[in-house]
Amino acid sequence: MDKESFRRHGYQFIDWLADYFEEVEKYPVRSTLKPGEVKDALPGGPPLQGESMDIIFDDFQKIIVPGITHWQHPGWFAYFPANNSPASVLAELLTAGIGAQCMIWQTSPAATELEEVVMRWLAQMIGLPESMSGVIQDTASTATLCALLTAREKATSYEANRTGLRRPLCVYTSEEGHSSIDKDVKIAGYGTDYLRHIPTDRNFAMIPSELEKAIEKDRAQGLEPACVIGTIGTTSSTAVDPLSEIGSICRRHGLFFHVDAAYGGTAALLEENKDLLAGAEDFDSFVFNPHKWMLTNFDCSAYFVKDEEALTRTFEIHPEYLKTGLDAEVKNYRDWGIQLGRRFRALKLWFVIRSYGVEGLRDLVREHLRLAGLFKKLVDEDERFEVMAPVRFSLVCFRYKKPGASEQELARLNAALLEKINRSGRVFLTHTSLKGSYTIRMAIGQRTTTEKHVRQAWDLISKSAAEL
Ligand SMILES: Cc1ncc(COP(=O)(O)O)c(C=O)c1O
Repeated sequence: MDKESFRRHGYQFIDWLADYFEEVEKYPVRSTLKPGEVKDALPGGPPLQGESMDIIFDDFQKIIVPGITHWQHPGWFAYFPANNSPASVLAELLTAGIGAQCMIWQTSPAATELEEVVMRWLAQMIGLPESMSGVIQDTASTATLCALLTAREKATSYEANRTGLRRPLCVYTSEEGHSSIDKDVKIAGYGTDYLRHIPTDRNFAMIPSELEKAIEKDRAQGLEPACVIGTIGTTSSTAVDPLSEIGSICRRHGLFFHVDAAYGGTAALLEENKDLLAGAEDFDSFVFNPHKWMLTNFDCSAYFVKDEEALTRTFEIHPEYLKTGLDAEVKNYRDWGIQLGRRFRALKLWFVIRSYGVEGLRDLVREHLRLAGLFKKLVDEDERFEVMAPVRFSLVCFRYKKPGASEQELARLNAALLEKINRSGRVFLTHTSLKGSYTIRMAIGQRTTTEKHVRQAWDLISKSAAEL
């Protein structure tokens, strides 16, 4: 592609995206395609000769866009958000264009140093201890894997990296801990037999006394407790574990304490939520995802550690071909995680924070919390429905109820309700199970979602329930 074509298509694509941001509401939120439709529309093999960008872009619009589920739609209430923003997208374009692979300081000093600076900003913004050091990971799953690997190394005096795990080490999280913890426990070599899911209270938060009991029971059986993972904002209901108490238990028993705040961490931007990080001086590591609820397009996960050396000792490698004369003076982020090659993710975070300012980001979060409060009120006021969990952030868990109906029947009815509202194309919500009860989740967090969208969603839910 010559320079002029690049320029022409660049303008064309930015025009398309500018319109997309404004008109995304015209699409059904969840793609309506059936399995196989995209594959069937594509040729079985690659083209031998290059094709023109006009034809490729035409196919993008005809084949790909119908198969997109529109996460940036204001009717997006599914899972958790993965919101983006024009500032973030423009930074991502520059990142792709520059094409720097930022594995070590020398391969782009600006990438490393900007990452150090924006991670320090983030720590200040949410109120983490100044002494914690930050690194950007692709996802919270990876950050938690880093935490588990570091915990494994600390528990074995950095022997497991050399010898493999020679004795079982136990990991603890609540029964509401995210599934990525189970996956990471497998990958990190602990084995899921040694992962304890600690019972939760009626608010779905970990019960500290049950944690301590489980630790003591394992010790009594000759097993070695190594790591506890607490959560700020569990996936099913956004419960917050009592972190100060859990931190004290970890300190008492000498265990590594990681906190997964993938979604909920962003709420700590608000002064009124500073209590979320009470006890943070006991966190060994902490992760939250600007790619969920802080306008930074996927992927961007902020991982903070108390003991930088423990992390780098876990991951460091020193092949001759990566050595530079400056290694003693600079950070080489290749030793702060799993991958060697690294994308320049700090740029989009920097653009977002500067473009919105801390107050702009706080306003967005505050508005989402207000909208969740409004939606909860609408559910509370309708006696056909019930709220299923405390509304701590911008997620409302609810279900349609029917006097005398069994859990099974309620699950069937609510699944039918959910499918009916999602089929409308105007909203997309998903479900979970809370202590065995089928629950619909209304997760508010899209940049363009307004009160109008929340009220429209409620009208749709309410009318659909009447037609069940
Ligand atoms: C509490 C929690 N932890 C971890 C994750 C995994 O996040 P990621 O997709 O960044 O790995 C999620 C995803 O929703 C989550 O809700």
